[in-house]
Amino acid sequence: MIALGADHGGFNLKEAIKKYLDEKNIEYVDYGCYSEESVDYAVFAKKVADDVSNGKCEKGILCCGTGIGISIAANKVKGIRAAVVTNEFCAEMTRRHNDANILALGGRVISEEEAVRFTDIFLNTEFEGGRHERRVGQISKIENGEEI
Ligand code: RB5
Repeated sequence: MIALGADHGGFNLKEAIKKYLDEKNIEYVDYGCYSEESVDYAVFAKKVADDVSNGKCEKGILCCGTGIGISIAANKVKGIRAAVVTNEFCAEMTRRHNDANILALGGRVISEEEAVRFTDIFLNTEFEGGRHERRVGQISKIENGEEI
């Protein structure tokens, strides 16, 4: 299950991603927003990040104007590694090396086609583990106030 969320700046990307997920028969929950009316991105970041953090959803996808605000908000939730992605290389590497669990995209930065391509890569790339396990573990330690 994939959790989706967007503000007005990312609404179009979210709709394009939903079409892709429907075509691939991938289940999702859409937390909105549901139109281009102005809303606050942190509200949607929280809903998606909570679902990923508590295991209800395996991954999340968040879209705002730049992908930045919504990723900053999502990264405040424990266990979340939200990555802003603007190219295919980063879509792949943030899964392979960072085990990112939320993809953040910007509706004023990338096209709908790019959003679908990055989503496809993000959902189909595995974490490499190995030395990256240690590094991701250090991120968790920072989150828990532990020394690294
Ligand atoms: C909303 O205008 C815009 O600030 C928001 O979508 C996002 O780009 C913030 O990072």
